[in-house]
Amino acid sequence: MSSLSNDAKSTGISEHELAEIRLFIEGRSGILFDESRTRFLSDRVSKHLKHRGLARGTDLLRLIGGSNAEYEALLESLLTQETSFFRYPAIYEALQKRVLPELHGKKFWHNPRSLRIWSAGCSTGEEPYSIAISVLETLEFPEAWNIEILATDISRHALDVAQRGQYSRRALASLTPEQLDAYFAATAGGQYRVKPRLRNRITFAQMNLAQMVYMGRFDCIFCRNVLIYFSDELRATLIRRFHECLEPDGYLFLGHAESVAKANVDLEPIVISDSLIYRKSVRTLQESL
Ligand SMILES: C[S@@+](CC[C@H](N)C(=O)[O-])C[C@H]1O[C@@H](n2cnc3c(N)ncnc32)[C@H](O)[C@@H]1O
Repeated sequence: MSSLSNDAKSTGISEHELAEIRLFIEGRSGILFDESRTRFLSDRVSKHLKHRGLARGTDLLRLIGGSNAEYEALLESLLTQETSFFRYPAIYEALQKRVLPELHGKKFWHNPRSLRIWSAGCSTGEEPYSIAISVLETLEFPEAWNIEILATDISRHALDVAQRGQYSRRALASLTPEQLDAYFAATAGGQYRVKPRLRNRITFAQMNLAQMVYMGRFDCIFCRNVLIYFSDELRATLIRRFHECLEPDGYLFLGHAESVAKANVDLEPIVISDSLIYRKSVRTLQESL
């Protein structure tokens, strides 16, 4: 049975061309389109082909092979960017009740007093803004800290939305009225725009995790609902890299369906109410001294 969608059959993409496009995307971004996602790929690629006014899959292959902008345009149409504010609240509870108080105690007498958190695969910004709200609400004197929240994604489009920081009332439904008032201002068009006091805590940058570069050490790394799109091999490589980028006793937050199991790293699983997070074991450091 053909794995091509009806759209693909009518737009002139062969199975072979689709396989080449899949390999091209996987090679550059690490994003895997296995059997279960072939229909999705075929559907999106055909729509993109029509949208670009191209006749055949080979035309598209030539285009994306010759131009980074064309490759990025196709990639944008293949990304899944589902996200929300305080998605899986138990994770933020763990951050506020366990992780931040622990870091606060550990670092309070440091000079400078700094906190670095990375949201890797931040999509349209809901995750890093939720992290920033949690930090500002948990630290006793946030202004006395150098708080740096780095938010990266492969998608330029998602980052543009994130940087603009404008959301509908519905998107902000999980915030309390006090949080809405403290961190967002209503716009004339009935939306809400993030206030500078929150926006200024976050640095947004485009970054492909499959070509990750070292950006220093972090106290916490969030990489939630991103690794599920990668091969086992890339997933394990990234978890090892995250481990290297964590401060001693730093924390890694993965998605529900993601684990460090096959990465062979010293990350201690910690269950806090309904959530599982990982802490970089200090043993690793002592052993390597
Ligand atoms: C489903 S969203 C998850 C958003 C957020 N972390 C959350 O859990 O709500 C997945 C995000 O990963 C990004 N992504 C996919 N492949 C990537 C890659 N190779 N490098 C960086 N980001 C990537 C997508 O653009 C998308 O914004």
